[in-house]
Amino acid sequence: MRVLVSDKIAKEGIDILKSELKVDVRTDLTPDQLREIIKDYDALVVRSQTKVTKDLIECSNLKVIGRAGVGVDNIDVEAATLKGILVVNAPEGNTIAACEHTFALMFAVARKIPQAVSSLKSGRWERNKFTGVQLSGKTLGVIGLGRIGKEVAKRASSLGMNVVGYDPYIARENVENLNIKLTDLDEVLRTSDFITFHVPLTKATRRMIGEEQFKIMKDGVYIINCARGGIIDEKALYDALVSGKVAGCALDVFEKEPPEDNPLLSLDNVIATPHLGASTAEAQIVVAEEVAKDIIRALKGEIVKNP
Ligand code: NAD
Ligand code: MLT
Repeated sequence: MRVLVSDKIAKEGIDILKSELKVDVRTDLTPDQLREIIKDYDALVVRSQTKVTKDLIECSNLKVIGRAGVGVDNIDVEAATLKGILVVNAPEGNTIAACEHTFALMFAVARKIPQAVSSLKSGRWERNKFTGVQLSGKTLGVIGLGRIGKEVAKRASSLGMNVVGYDPYIARENVENLNIKLTDLDEVLRTSDFITFHVPLTKATRRMIGEEQFKIMKDGVYIINCARGGIIDEKALYDALVSGKVAGCALDVFEKEPPEDNPLLSLDNVIATPHLGASTAEAQIVVAEEVAKDIIRALKGEIVKNP
């Protein structure tokens, strides 16, 4: 059985795969090159960079596709399922990493840390320019209360924030011990000083935040998106940042990655990281191990942990 690993994953995962399978690590392939060689493989392991399209799936002989991470929006799961290909992910290993990155971004945007660092390093001492806002006493809106959203909510309460949340798919009992007011989307948008997103990118969440939703928000709201580009309409976000409706925004993800000449990056009140939410040494080892074990289980015909 042959496995192709087409995005960089931790060595610990590769070692597990190599203990049972023949493994090729090729992280340099163009979509055309990938399409040419995919028919030789039984399994494909990706992170978020490789786009596993319907076309790629249809010309493959894959039995399983593994995602070293949570989001499977870069994989055409429907096309895979129709062809009888199992898709597995590694949903637990990067929860804390993504949660901690959310707070890194939230503190950084509230206190203008990246702007202040760059000003200081270029020889200036601009103490008045970088007055921030504090998190304690503010209302945090958490959109999506799954694994990451819940961890964010827990930590926000301990920082003295009031937490309101929106997630139509979870039971109230699920968040009872978390000190969250579970409510509808409009109330979260209307009452929050900071809003953070922790939903997957799906047909329902694509552009769930656009011009109309920005109108409902408080003036001077802060936005943090460490989930997926595409959840927030980037043009509407740009306009809201320029008008001052949104005071500051922290983005880890973009509709198109890398974002290249995305106009959002030209704004002073936008801070950004290149999709680093899951990028801790600890998380990358766990997700690579998790996905490798499930690839082996799938190829052996055993029950997988994360279908
Ligand atoms: P999860 O599945 O545990 O939680 C997602 C939650 O979103 C669920 O509770 C679900 O009910 C809710 N949801 C789904 N559709 C919704 C909608 N229309 N409105 C409101 N809520 C909705 O997933 P998770 O582990 O918490 O991860 C969330 C997302 O974060 C992932 O899908 C991934 O895209 C993203 N992520 C990004 C990074 C990063 O590197 N930036 C790292 C990890 C995860
Ligand atoms: C995920 O969905 O797990 C994230 O995109 C993390 C990643 O793969 O970098």
